Amino acid sequence: MNISLLTGGAFVLQVVQVGVLFIAAYLARRKLLKQHCLVMRIAVLIQIGAIARVMFPSLLLQLQSQTVDWFYFELLAHALAGLSVIGIWIFINLAFMGVIRWRRRLVWPMRVALGLWLLTFALGAHIYLFTQRL
Ligand code: HEM
Repeated sequence: MNISLLTGGAFVLQVVQVGVLFIAAYLARRKLLKQHCLVMRIAVLIQIGAIARVMFPSLLLQLQSQTVDWFYFELLAHALAGLSVIGIWIFINLAFMGVIRWRRRLVWPMRVALGLWLLTFALGAHIYLFTQRL
């Protein structure tokens, strides 16, 4: 296996994104909600760009050349958790814009998104280190 899901630069971006995620969560806890919202909108847009440009094409290549073993399922779990974060983010935005009727607070969907993002990052970091043989 010689294809890495991420280049070193893209991996550094993911580490920075997790830092941004914690800053955004801190902003939300401090009730600086406009700033939180703006930071999360930009962070996820950058994330969508990184997925489309780097991770999704690499994932397809990796899955083709990969026997179905634990690593195959780790790749799938990483991709599924990451795409779920994007899905929840779209849901949150549509709920805020009133396109989707959601009468309850959005704290829980956001906590789930935060947890899934951290899970995605942990799996992604393991995949990166494993494919780099570090
Ligand atoms: C994946 C994206 C996002 C994540 C991981 C996230 C995470 C969080 C977290 C951890 C909290 C604090 C919850 C608590 O009190 O324990 C929060 C609150 C909040 N976020 Fe987000 N957020 C995301 C996207 C957004 C977006 C796009 C907006 C604006 C459209 C937004 C607006 C808010 C608001 C208004 C609150 C306060 C909710 C309340 O107290 O009822 N968030 N978010």
